[in-house]
Amino acid sequence: MSASRRGVVGALLAASAFAPFARAGVHAEGRARAPACTARPKSFGAALRFSELQAEPALRAAVIRDCDRLTPEVHMMWKALEPEPGRYDFAEMDELVAFARTHGLGVHGHALLWHDAVPAWGQARLRQERDWSLVAGHFGSTLDRYAADVASWTVVNEPLAPDPSGSPLRSSPFLRAFGSGYVERALREAHARAPQARLFINEYGLDYENPVEQGRRRALLALVDTLKRAGAPIHGVGVQAHLDLSKGPIDPDRLRGFLAELAALEVEIAITELDVQEKDFDAPLEVRDRRVATEVAQYLEVALDQPAVSSVTCWGLTDRHSWLPGAGGRIVAGEAVEALPRRYNRGLPYDAELQPKPLYWALRQSLAASRLTA
Ligand code: XIL
Repeated sequence: MSASRRGVVGALLAASAFAPFARAGVHAEGRARAPACTARPKSFGAALRFSELQAEPALRAAVIRDCDRLTPEVHMMWKALEPEPGRYDFAEMDELVAFARTHGLGVHGHALLWHDAVPAWGQARLRQERDWSLVAGHFGSTLDRYAADVASWTVVNEPLAPDPSGSPLRSSPFLRAFGSGYVERALREAHARAPQARLFINEYGLDYENPVEQGRRRALLALVDTLKRAGAPIHGVGVQAHLDLSKGPIDPDRLRGFLAELAALEVEIAITELDVQEKDFDAPLEVRDRRVATEVAQYLEVALDQPAVSSVTCWGLTDRHSWLPGAGGRIVAGEAVEALPRRYNRGLPYDAELQPKPLYWALRQSLAASRLTA
């Protein structure tokens, strides 16, 4: 274990005794933010839904305090923006952009193309017509409306096959309609319509030492290399970093090497969807929280050491809003309240009651350390 590793993890474990929120320099009023989370040059953000922000003042305060960027969790998806052909629903995305503007937050547009976010009518027409104007029309309506407020975009989300040892690209509606050149074409389409924007592809399953994830790292590097050689306008790669305690441990040297290879391809790297899936829900809460926080601290110690890594975004801020299933599966409205603290997956910085957990302090510590060494 390196000296810096001991420093970060050691400080994390000490902090998990729980410094009171205010003593740590975090105040509820407006723009006085947690220092670590605004540390330059690494910015910090979260994926959010407007309905949750609107309903919960404490969540709004946490976002304003902690974040300098946000990602729409669902509102920017094609199926959300154009549920029927030519019928657009921009309302929630507009609200989120207005919130970001009011509070000086950057917005990352997620995602122009994602196999999981194509409306049913779009899937049918892509299959039948194979007509690029479907994609161009969607890019046009989205980018024309939001290019002024959105500095960076996931142009293609999850282009790789789940196991890329056969064919590297996912058999998506886009691959089937347009062939393997669709990723480059999408980047060029986005660039033509938003020439100032930073354009990303975004992937999951790049973090652990198993044959599938090792193969995914190689496939991603090869894809980015091909795009770069073709002169495609790709400015960044999003590494989702949905960490998972059943897959660990992270191998710091391998992770470091992967990020260095990506950086050598001259792309910015964003950690775009950080959270932790727990494995053992029966352990005491303190133990669960420490395991999650240590995983993140170890991951970020490597990731934030890479100069090409520009930002960290958590996939939500509180466990209550996490997309990850808890003990016994998804939590539904109306469950016995006393059972809930143990039921939630505890893989985000704040618990369901908006109390910061050791993961929160781990993030602060890691971002502060990266600022000191930057
Ligand atoms: C998830 C959202 O969190 C869910 O609410 C939604 O139902 C499905 O999508 N990778 C991504 C994200 O790029 O867009 C996904 O978000 C999580 C996996």
